[in-house]
Amino acid sequence: MAFTVKINGQTKSVDVDGDTPLLWVLRDVLGLTGTKFGCGMALCGACTVHIDGVATRSCVTPIEAVGSSDVTTIEGIGGTPVGARIQQAWLDAQVPQCGYCQSGQIMSAAALLAGNPHPTDADVDEAMSGNICRCGTYGRIRKAIRQIS
Ligand code: FES
Ligand code: FES
Repeated sequence: MAFTVKINGQTKSVDVDGDTPLLWVLRDVLGLTGTKFGCGMALCGACTVHIDGVATRSCVTPIEAVGSSDVTTIEGIGGTPVGARIQQAWLDAQVPQCGYCQSGQIMSAAALLAGNPHPTDADVDEAMSGNICRCGTYGRIRKAIRQIS
């Protein structure tokens, strides 16, 4: 079935089953491989994208549920003011280790700071708690978020 989706400001047509997770549309159909697969069960945050600005687990979001919403991925977040600042903060704080979780971490941080430019520690903990980092970069993630908030 054909679906028209808006990804990073561009309109794309994809021909997939309606229950295909957005994650696989992004990665396998559109070649946007910056969004990662971790658990496939909304438990790790590696697949986080924005749907109308809300951090969303793309692994459990069927393409038929996206509709006309705006989807932003790690490939597009640098084009937003807050995304650009976050990416620079991530570089300055040398956040990534293996890097696997970092797309999702940045997307969750961007959603947080877009809606709440000066989050408390509790706000940060709540917004980032669903993003798991097996390398334990949590301290540097917090430092980077603090740098721009
Ligand atoms: S792959 Fe989606 S939350 Fe883990
Ligand atoms: S940097 Fe390795 S999983 Fe987070």
